[in-house]
Amino acid sequence: MEVIEKIKEMQERAEKLRLSGETIAFVPTMGFFHEGHLELMRVGRKAGSKLVISIFVNPIQFGPSEDFERYPRDMEGDLQKAKEVGVDIVFMPSVDEMYPEGFQTKVAVRDLTQHLCGLSRPGHFDGVTTVVSKLFNIVKPHVAIFGQKDYQQLTVISRMVMDLNMDIKIIGVPTVREPDGLAMSSRNTYLGKEERESALCLVKSLELAQNLLDTGEDNPMMIKERIEELIREYPYTEIDYVSVCDPDTLDELESISDRALVALAVRVGSARLIDNRIITKKEKRGE
Ligand code: PAF
Repeated sequence: MEVIEKIKEMQERAEKLRLSGETIAFVPTMGFFHEGHLELMRVGRKAGSKLVISIFVNPIQFGPSEDFERYPRDMEGDLQKAKEVGVDIVFMPSVDEMYPEGFQTKVAVRDLTQHLCGLSRPGHFDGVTTVVSKLFNIVKPHVAIFGQKDYQQLTVISRMVMDLNMDIKIIGVPTVREPDGLAMSSRNTYLGKEERESALCLVKSLELAQNLLDTGEDNPMMIKERIEELIREYPYTEIDYVSVCDPDTLDELESISDRALVALAVRVGSARLIDNRIITKKEKRGE
């Protein structure tokens, strides 16, 4: 497995791979790998003949009061895991390499970012689309793989790729969960023992939403209210948002005709956790 730290070297390597007919699959990450990341890499392994990943904790997607400094890092462990999964190249630039003095360009997706996490984390998605555009220009992938746990991120990046005619296929991979249902996240490491139990309120909320729809409750306001009630029963939690929205536009729904995205962000102790699920009316599931 090669480790590359310099942009120019990565670009030259990618160009060579392309010229020799390889298909580059790319998994951008911020490191501190768990099964969710490894699953993205396994999908990437099959999607291309060469698998490139990046490890870069991107400062411009964190707000001033967010956890950039304390975001968990484990370079040695990450490299070992990447090797085991069969990664060919790890691109691992420094912050100065990615954002040298004078850097002043931003890539922004206008409307899809004005919902969900975009409202509680202003500027976050501009940071994501800017760094992902840069990474795409550096790694030159044919296909890139993202997790569905960050549903809005996947939607925003897919839109960006479409709008800017980037010749890259985007693959979304289902969320990997702990045996009790908690979505895997690097931020789960912030949870103390009791907070870890409370963190289950996210997946329980999503199950509740589907159960409510199954029993005929298709009013998004009522579903949101019931979810908020449920979360309030769990200690150490504070709701950031609960949304029942259109899975494509992310606009809040006034009624559910066949399916809806239920997305939520909840602070549990010092961890801000997100999760989502598409809920579908029974008659549309074809069971
Ligand atoms: O999902 C992430 O880990 C990050 O947002 C990404 C896509 C690597 C960009 O920094």
